[in-house]
Amino acid sequence: MSAKEDYQELEKRARELGLIGASYALLEWDHQVNMPPKSAETRAEMTSYLAGMMHEKFVDPKVGELISSVESSDLVKDPESIIAANIRELRHQYDKETKLPKELVEEFEKTTALAHGIWAEARKNNDFKTFEPALKKIVDLTKQKAEAYGYEGEPYNALLDNYEPGATTAEVADVFEKLRVELVELLAKIKDAPNQPDGSIIERPYDVKNQQIFGELVAKTMGYDFDEGRLDIATHPFTTAFGPGDTRITTRYNPNRLNDALFGTIHEAGHALYEMGLKKKENFGMPVGDSASLGIHESQSRMWENMVGRSKPFWNYFFPIAQSMFRESLGHVSFDEFYAAVNYVAPSYIRVEADEVTYNLHILLRFEMERAILNGDIKIADVPGEWNSRFEKYFGIKVDNDANGCLQDVHWSAGLMGYFPTYTLGNIYAAQFYAQANKDIPDLEQRVERGDLLTLREWLRENIHQHGQRYRANDLCKRITGEGLSHKPMMDYMNKKFAEVYGY
Ligand code: CO
Repeated sequence: MSAKEDYQELEKRARELGLIGASYALLEWDHQVNMPPKSAETRAEMTSYLAGMMHEKFVDPKVGELISSVESSDLVKDPESIIAANIRELRHQYDKETKLPKELVEEFEKTTALAHGIWAEARKNNDFKTFEPALKKIVDLTKQKAEAYGYEGEPYNALLDNYEPGATTAEVADVFEKLRVELVELLAKIKDAPNQPDGSIIERPYDVKNQQIFGELVAKTMGYDFDEGRLDIATHPFTTAFGPGDTRITTRYNPNRLNDALFGTIHEAGHALYEMGLKKKENFGMPVGDSASLGIHESQSRMWENMVGRSKPFWNYFFPIAQSMFRESLGHVSFDEFYAAVNYVAPSYIRVEADEVTYNLHILLRFEMERAILNGDIKIADVPGEWNSRFEKYFGIKVDNDANGCLQDVHWSAGLMGYFPTYTLGNIYAAQFYAQANKDIPDLEQRVERGDLLTLREWLRENIHQHGQRYRANDLCKRITGEGLSHKPMMDYMNKKFAEVYGY
């Protein structure tokens, strides 16, 4: 067969995998949104069957041969071409997927499946000791995984690469350290500032039906198309996509708090716009039809949630509508009071409830801890102590118990080490992209003020969404902004915004 035919065969196989993947994702969506509890066992059997099938089909030696054939042909002559990008990423995925011994994969799955229940129980009882043996085993297996993948420098590189292909621990650590110093300074200024917002404004009764109508209105205004999506309720909100024409978002409503559903919906709609903007029809199942990295994905949700959704121009348009829908709670609140309240900053224990400023400190703490654990610099038994002393240093508050400390997140029990940094990478990229969008569209904020959010959506589609994995995250950022990963635009944005909100 010619290299061209081999490439077509790869496309055909990728499409098949894409179809199985979409079916898997649909079952998972149903699991989180609709499934009756007694179906859990059957559902687990269904999804693990499909997962096994995808793995088998992908690691087929024939796939490796097809990739090699195209690699050694003229088809990849131009490294910037779509074919070259697809082959680059298929090679990367194929090598990773075939490097792990089957026994290790099975052992890892068994261990993490059991660990979830142990972790949930330990968190409920504030008892790290009962989770310690499971965590130790997960860390041991994770180290074995890193060894099997292979890495330069430290083992963390092999894990980070699973979620942020091409990123290195050293460069991320360098940017994060600069960020940490400036965030701690910013937090100190906020703490002593003259204007302290009244955060209680958002902690009032907000009619759930109206929260839903309002959330849908915002999502529609952003360009989320309900003819190719749905908004449903889930305990842990997420976005999922089943190929071209079907991208779904979920949220959860708190009748006594406006922020959870509102900013949650904006966040997930930001993820969804990325999925909707990928060229899936032409590249279904292929890397170019898929998102660039978790960091880039998160940059899309966080830009909409924070840089747009917590901005003055956005609320100049939406506040009167919100006031008319939530008369009792917002009728007597001024614009400035409301704007300050949605930008309220206060150190707290729980990452998922954190504000825009302290959120990243939560991530930096986890990144540091994971890296040290993997390098053997922190013993598992010392995790709570190390966590608590670092937490106090960054946040200025003492951790009262492990449920509010090192036991709060599900990630480690699921074996997801190397994942956390992508949240802050997302925030950093979001600020870099948003600064560039404002340069390219000088009247962007005036447009947002008029309720025109589609101009920004178009810019994102053109510059980011349509490319999928054609460029790796850092290269994409360089192409768009002329610079690689940099914490500066994010700190500029935060320093300006919070100096104004807090009046210092
Ligand atoms: Co997200």
